[in-house]
Amino acid sequence: MSTSLTLDEIAGLLQRRGAAQYGREAVSQLDHALQCAHLAEQAGETPATVAAALLHDLGHLLAAERQQAPEPDDRRDDLHQYIALPFLRHLFDEAVLAPIRLHVDAKRYLCQAEPGYFDTLSPASVHSLALQGGAFNEQEARAFLHQPFAAEAVRLRRYDDLAKVAGQPTPELGHYLPVLAQAARQA
Ligand SMILES: [Fe+2]
Repeated sequence: MSTSLTLDEIAGLLQRRGAAQYGREAVSQLDHALQCAHLAEQAGETPATVAAALLHDLGHLLAAERQQAPEPDDRRDDLHQYIALPFLRHLFDEAVLAPIRLHVDAKRYLCQAEPGYFDTLSPASVHSLALQGGAFNEQEARAFLHQPFAAEAVRLRRYDDLAKVAGQPTPELGHYLPVLAQAARQA
């Protein structure tokens, strides 16, 4: 696989690797991606943000595809928020790439900025938070918010956190392919 994915290759990757369990959560990677995109769509997000929601964890699938991580190693941070970026850069602009890149930092931000947020995280998400550096301090939280698309990343994070419901019905992947195409055309 080259480092520049086509939209067809992205769809193929989601279909081929999406059946894998989403870490220690109760849903598959594809279910998680679809639930996240569905929540973004229902909230009235732009095609770019819906595309980011669908693709935010593509790094996990790419790592599996390249067998960099044949077995998930939950003792270290897999840095999955960065893995997909070189594969998507030629298709999408920062409106899609930045929320993907920032979705882990958005969790670290919310842990600092929003009382009670930490308590809503799943056990798997609490575990990865520690590996990812934990909650931001006040200064880090302020710096996070100054980045372009930080607000979109925070909203994506909230969809991400909710997109872990076993058996939750969503549109199929085919519904989101035109949204990806639209987000790509706008880039
Ligand atoms: Fe996720």
